[in-house]
Amino acid sequence: MERGRYIAFEGAEGCGKSTHAARLAAELGAVLTRETGGTAIGARIRAILHDTDVTDLTDRAEALLTAADRAQHLDEVVRPALAAGRHVVSDRSVHSTLAYQGHGRGLDVDDLRRINAWAIADTWPELVLFLDVDPAVQTARMRHRELDRFERESEAFHVRVRDGFATMAAADPAHWVTVDANGTLDDVSTAVRRAVHDRLGI
Ligand code: TMP
Repeated sequence: MERGRYIAFEGAEGCGKSTHAARLAAELGAVLTRETGGTAIGARIRAILHDTDVTDLTDRAEALLTAADRAQHLDEVVRPALAAGRHVVSDRSVHSTLAYQGHGRGLDVDDLRRINAWAIADTWPELVLFLDVDPAVQTARMRHRELDRFERESEAFHVRVRDGFATMAAADPAHWVTVDANGTLDDVSTAVRRAVHDRLGI
């Protein structure tokens, strides 16, 4: 049996990745999942990470919680699905840690890469779709949301995260595609579908 393909969406809050992950998964008949919170254990880890009452979580502990969520997710959801020949579409992946805990919080990106390579047993997404959105569009989309612990971070933090994604995309064009996410839902969906077809032939 042919292995499934592992596709991840990345980008800032409000970039539309959850909507586009769901659309793509429906089109491909893929398993739709997410980090953090793609498993029952992950949901409990996510609750800690997002809780605005959590004010004393250290940056390293935060990074390790995301890695623990991911280890469980890869073992329980992603790898079994791929082995069973299903495609997997994930709303965020290991690259979110490199962007948020690395570029955003300032932890060493190479350390995070090593820790996470172990956590995922080297199962990296084959294709990463970076939905890039202008900060002004993002702010408008976020206006009506109740903000979680990450969303309350400074503008400078979010600029560093976005630059982190852009840097990773530029450094690894074989695996990354940057999609302009400022357009209409249908425009973005079309661009996503084309990228998946061109890169993976599915
Ligand atoms: P979202 O999945 O609802 O977009 O929100 C997840 C939040 O968690 C988002 O602000 C990014 C953050 N996050 C990290 O900081 N590191 C990670 O590894 C992951 C997966 C998410």
